[in-house]
Amino acid sequence: MRYFFVIFIFSTVVSCKLNPYPYVQGRNLYVAHCQNCHMEDGKGLNKLIPSLPGSQWMGNADMVCIIKNGMMDTLWNGNDFMVKEMPSFSGLSPTEVANIVNFVNYEWNPDFKEFSIKEIQESLNQCK
Ligand code: HEC
Repeated sequence: MRYFFVIFIFSTVVSCKLNPYPYVQGRNLYVAHCQNCHMEDGKGLNKLIPSLPGSQWMGNADMVCIIKNGMMDTLWNGNDFMVKEMPSFSGLSPTEVANIVNFVNYEWNPDFKEFSIKEIQESLNQCK
C-alpha cells in the first residue's frame, strides 16, 4: 500500500513536469488584473461586465488596445444611460500583455492560436 502511494505521487510529479501549464504567467497576470471583474471563468457579470468567452475580440490581436487604453461605452439600457468602464492597463509591458492575451485565448477561444510577442508589440504600436 505504501509503495502504491509512493509510485502514485512520483508519477503525478513526473507528469506535472512533463506537461506544465503553458500560460502560468498569463494566468497569474489575469488573476491579478482582470479576474476581479471578468471572473475566474471569464464570463463577467451579467450586463455590467462582458464575457470573454464568445467575445468578438477573441483571436484578434487588437484586444491589446482594450487592455492598453481601456474602454468606456455609454449604453442606453431602456431606462438609464449606463456607463461601462474598463480601466486601462498602460503600465503593463508588451510581454505581460502578450501573456494575458495568450492565456485568455488558450482558455476561452476554441480556435486558439498563440500570438508572438512581435505581433503583440506591432498591434500595441497601432492602437490609437
Ligand atoms: C474594473 C473592472 C474591469 C477590469 C479590472 C478589467 N475589465 Fe475588461 N472590461 C470591463 C468592462 C466594464 C468592459 C466593457 C467596457 C465597455 O463596453 O465600455 C470590459 C471589456 C473588456 C473586453 C471587451 C469585451 C467585449 O467583447 O466587448 C476585453 C477583451 C476585456 N475587457 C479584457 C480585459 C482584460 C484582459 C483585463 C485584465 C488586463 C480586464 N479586461 C480587466 C471591466 C473590467
